Amino acid sequence: MKLAVVEGDGIGKEVIPEAVKVLDALSLPIEKVPVEIGYGKWKKTGYAITDEDIETLKNCDCILFGAVTTPPDPEYKSVLLTIRKELDMYANIRPVKPLAGITGVTGKSDFNYVIVRENTEGLYSGIEEIHDDVAYTTRVVSRKGSKRIAEYACKLAKMRNNNVTIVHKSNVMKSDKLFLDVCQQTAESGDVNYSDTLVDAMAYYLITYPEKYDVVVTTNLFGDILSDMSAAHIGSMGLMPSANIGEEHAFFEPVHGSAPDIAGEKIANPVAAILSIKMLLQWYGYNNEASLVERSVNYTLNKGIKTPDLGGEYTTEELGQAVIDSINSQV
Ligand code: NAI
Ligand code: MG
Repeated sequence: MKLAVVEGDGIGKEVIPEAVKVLDALSLPIEKVPVEIGYGKWKKTGYAITDEDIETLKNCDCILFGAVTTPPDPEYKSVLLTIRKELDMYANIRPVKPLAGITGVTGKSDFNYVIVRENTEGLYSGIEEIHDDVAYTTRVVSRKGSKRIAEYACKLAKMRNNNVTIVHKSNVMKSDKLFLDVCQQTAESGDVNYSDTLVDAMAYYLITYPEKYDVVVTTNLFGDILSDMSAAHIGSMGLMPSANIGEEHAFFEPVHGSAPDIAGEKIANPVAAILSIKMLLQWYGYNNEASLVERSVNYTLNKGIKTPDLGGEYTTEELGQAVIDSINSQV
């Protein structure tokens, strides 16, 4: 495996090294390729990402990404959107699962669902127009785009509890009627149990009855909102990993940003970055190693080894090292 490692800015430079150390502790045949992308690079060169960087990323099997600070430039084009588009990573995956010894603000602990968000179209298609006092954003939903995300969700459901919830607003938008139809057909032909829910009601249900869900599939903006909302079940921004997956490439990153408010203090929680490694291992088929990483994170947190965002006093490196110690004690 050839892995591009992008630390990015702010706490990306603190949490990604811990994630890489965890990966190294597993002694797998993985070649790491460091790539500099982000605000730091923009300040030095005027570019946050170059065509050459994109080529480097394309030449790797997958990417581990920290976070980038958005430069204060109205013409700035999102690095993340650029990478997702260029590498056609259409599925954004966010597992929502409790961690040992941690309770989120909802007080729930019996949930285990995954949000599968379409990542390339919807309201984030980038087709925009402004005419004097009216601005238009085109919401694109295609049969092809809907089909591939529906297939991904169904495949994932087959490996879990075989249940897909399709989230949409088809009572108001024709684009979502197409999305719903395609998802239903795909689930039907794949022998996957499915139901559908309007997105506004889903916001309520996901917070109130999270235990009812297995795989939740939806369009770009709805998925963006529901997945951040789901963080309320978990406990900290510093705990949530994510994956962006396409046919040829995959990209793993903590959900959080560069956190300039705590950058440099060495207190950022590395768990989201370390669990991104778990998702990477799972994607590549290193399933035993993926479970080992997850188990070690849970063991460490359960022992009370926590960073300040979780009410603890440990540093980024101390938490990272405790996870590695746990791994080493099990291999
Ligand atoms: P953020 O996620 O960086 O921070 C939000 C809050 O959560 C802050 O109080 C921060 O201290 C805390 N936090 C985040 N991660 C943490 C961790 N691992 N451990 C402990 N506390 C943590 O979001 P914010 O402040 O809105 O954005 C900061 C910068 O990051 C902006 O320039 C934004 O554009 C960028 N950003 C980049 C993302 C990416 O590259 N994927 C995603 C989100 C934001
Ligand atoms: Mg978001």
